[in-house]
Amino acid sequence: MKEIFNRFSVRRFEDKPIPDELVVSLLKAAMQAPSAGNQQPWEFLVVTKAETRAKIAEICQYSKPLIGAPLGIVVLADTSKLRFPECLQQDLGAASENILLEAVHLGLGGVWMAIMDFKPLMAGVKEYLKLPPHIEPFATIALGYPAEKKTPQLRYSEAKVHYEKY
Ligand SMILES: Cc1cc2nc3c(=O)[nH]c(=O)nc-3n(C[C@H](O)[C@H](O)[C@H](O)COP(=O)(O)O)c2cc1C
Repeated sequence: MKEIFNRFSVRRFEDKPIPDELVVSLLKAAMQAPSAGNQQPWEFLVVTKAETRAKIAEICQYSKPLIGAPLGIVVLADTSKLRFPECLQQDLGAASENILLEAVHLGLGGVWMAIMDFKPLMAGVKEYLKLPPHIEPFATIALGYPAEKKTPQLRYSEAKVHYEKY
């Protein structure tokens, strides 16, 4: 699938908003992800206001690309009705990757920036975004029309593949 091999982390964006219908496409892709027992433990907070993006970037020191991105999606964990709590982060990771791949498909680019399990970042974002007690921030994804180009290198390595037993 070409999107997988064309994807790279985009941290600089054109000053151009993403149309609402593309934002919905990104969210549809996210929610189409597999999850343990189909628990779908996700919610998403869509952030376009510059002030909000800048504040999240201030709280999360590695989330600076949010400042110049027209769109931020905060991937949230709903911890209230988990059938398989052990799989929470795997489920949210699958949803996050789907957003990045759909972004490439739509001619956009993005970068995934971790919040979970950095406790001070989680607490700061939770307070600022007024998340209820059962909702935790997992990651932010900065998205937009790429202002940088890259041909991703192939990472396939036979040395990392094992057959039958290690
Ligand atoms: C769990 C996770 C956390 C990441 N956190 C950050 C981050 O905080 N800031 C950032 O600029 N990039 C972050 N990235 C992007 C990685 O730096 C990037 O995926 C990696 O360097 C490989 O480059 P590529 O995405 O261009 O293939 C993160 C990626 C993942 C999967």
